[in-house]
Amino acid sequence: MKIDGNVLDDMDAMKKLDASDMLRRLPEFHLQFKVAQSCFSRIDLDGFEGFKPTSILICGMGGSAISGDVLLNWVGKSSPVPIHVNRSPFLPGYVGSRTLIIMVSYSGNTSETLSAMDQAIHKGAQIMAITSGGKLLEICQEKDIPSVIIPSGYPPRTALGLLFMPIALLCQHLGLFDIDNEIPLIESALKSANTRLNPSITRLDNAAKELALSLVDSVPAIYSSPSLEVIANRWKCQLNENSKMLAWYSTVPEMNHNGIVGWSGVTDTSERTVVMIRDREDDSCYSRRLDLTGEIFLKPHARRIVEVWPDGESLLARMFNHIFFADYTSLYLAFLRGVDPTPVAAIDKLKLQLA
Ligand code: PA5
Repeated sequence: MKIDGNVLDDMDAMKKLDASDMLRRLPEFHLQFKVAQSCFSRIDLDGFEGFKPTSILICGMGGSAISGDVLLNWVGKSSPVPIHVNRSPFLPGYVGSRTLIIMVSYSGNTSETLSAMDQAIHKGAQIMAITSGGKLLEICQEKDIPSVIIPSGYPPRTALGLLFMPIALLCQHLGLFDIDNEIPLIESALKSANTRLNPSITRLDNAAKELALSLVDSVPAIYSSPSLEVIANRWKCQLNENSKMLAWYSTVPEMNHNGIVGWSGVTDTSERTVVMIRDREDDSCYSRRLDLTGEIFLKPHARRIVEVWPDGESLLARMFNHIFFADYTSLYLAFLRGVDPTPVAAIDKLKLQLA
């Protein structure tokens, strides 16, 4: 593949590739958190009065399911109740009337999520949905299930703030976690990152463009601790969907028990790049493993290892900062590869075949 890095400093060339204008949406990411607050404020929560969940299950697929992973990585360690993310048409056996189920489907037409919804209703779970419309909204209206209606017209993966916030707000309403204090921290982290990463900042000063250039002709491997698995997965998914390229991810310590052996068999380092997801407050046992893994087992076999450390005053702010950086890098990778970041033809084709 012939790569012309100049495209990243040519606004007209990027806009030409970006037919659905993802370039415009990304700098506005920080606005989604307040918009979602106002969408959430419109729902009737009477049915949740006095409800004390014994577990929380977030159901969704792809760009919608990531919202549940964000909750899990943010509060998983401190949560008084178990939190799971269900990416399948089937619900686990434990689901019952004390399970809080949050159905997340941006389009409202994803078959796996609709099947899970059907079962959640039959099992008598306490349900809230988050969607921009589709069949999910129709079912909610028919069955009188609270549904947070978020603005339509976004590719699902660009609506993460809109999809995540209602989950956190409902948990806050139930007395589980506090999200209100986080909003200004997230907004400020995203706004400040945008001044450094936006398309008008040239390659030499733009870390996302610089990283895109070094990943472009490789199959990136992304590693994180389990505490930040959502970020590693987000990187993979955004590289797959926006940049139309292969990527994979794993976490330490698990990959220390399998993946590092695979790396020892890599003879051609030219196609191997590594992105390490770091956080200043990651548990020291994980940080040490990431350091050692990179230094001893990956460095000899990879063309480049890049560590990504986000800014932000809270863990959640840094998580969204990480996500923002991955989003920008994947967008710039799409332009380097000469593709439009928005269409996901393969996903659409399979959904059609299964419908
Ligand atoms: O980013 C995407 O377009 C996909 O990953 C979708 O989110 C996924 O196919 C599920 O669709 P939806 O989010 O509409 O439920």
